[in-house]
Amino acid sequence: MPTQLRLSPVQETLLLTLYARALDSRAPAPILGDTLASTVADRIAEDTGYDFAKLRLKRSLIASTALRARKLDDAIRQFIATHPHAVVVDLGCGLDTRLARCNPPVGVGWYNVDFPEVTELRERYSPDRSHLVAADVTEAGWVQSLPGDRPTMIVAEGLLPFLPGTSFQTMIRRLTSRLPTGELVLNGYTRFAAWAMKYHPSIKALGVDAAHGFDDPHEPERWNADLTLVAEQLLTRAPEVAAFPQPVRALTRLMAHSTAMSRQGTRVLHYRF
Ligand SMILES: C[S@@+](CC[C@H](N)C(=O)[O-])C[C@H]1O[C@@H](n2cnc3c(N)ncnc32)[C@H](O)[C@@H]1O
Repeated sequence: MPTQLRLSPVQETLLLTLYARALDSRAPAPILGDTLASTVADRIAEDTGYDFAKLRLKRSLIASTALRARKLDDAIRQFIATHPHAVVVDLGCGLDTRLARCNPPVGVGWYNVDFPEVTELRERYSPDRSHLVAADVTEAGWVQSLPGDRPTMIVAEGLLPFLPGTSFQTMIRRLTSRLPTGELVLNGYTRFAAWAMKYHPSIKALGVDAAHGFDDPHEPERWNADLTLVAEQLLTRAPEVAAFPQPVRALTRLMAHSTAMSRQGTRVLHYRF
């Protein structure tokens, strides 16, 4: 009897990003090369009969998901290199195998946060040494479960568009008041990109319609969360685009000429607090 996956449409988006990384790892020239993601996706498909093909993942989404993960991993690795006793908090972690990819030293504490339905799945399909925090990140109490006395790297990949209203900024404000010092990295979505997301075939297949973003990378500096922008990386201009399959590579290079167009694509935003 196959196990049933019981996930809401927003929770199910974690299978989309997992599968994108899995497919990247099976490509002739992977950008991220996360073979563990492929193993996890295979196990879920075998166990539950989940039809990953229904997600209709396009090559552009596979390449951009792999590239943004790589850039977010790089930011974490750099932080850990200078703070060997740091804490890493992965917000809306899904089934991401980021801890295995970053392979932090034992002194680093790693907290993976997501809904209880998702942390249960992690225990089954992607166990690792991280602390699992089963919580709705828009609620207040869970931040108390994080150590409040260590430099902390907060990562939020693919989370921003799914948090309603101003709840993303409220959550970040709670985190930066609790934590002494650190950095925040996320993949940004402009308001247009977030709105347009619901027309994307993969997102449509899941029936998700929440969509939030912001245009100005300095906007979070006005959230009263003590954030300072360190960098905005426009991934259309990343050297790894050379490994994108055609015609995605040619289109991405065309977009790279315009900052406004590039901002509508994948960008990594990096703050300090
Ligand atoms: C697109 S997936 C990204 C998952 C993971 N970061 C990755 O890159 O594979 C969005 C994730 O955000 C989580 N999420 C959305 N809203 C949340 C909330 N209010 N509290 C906790 N997790 C949430 C979902 O459950 C899902 O795992």
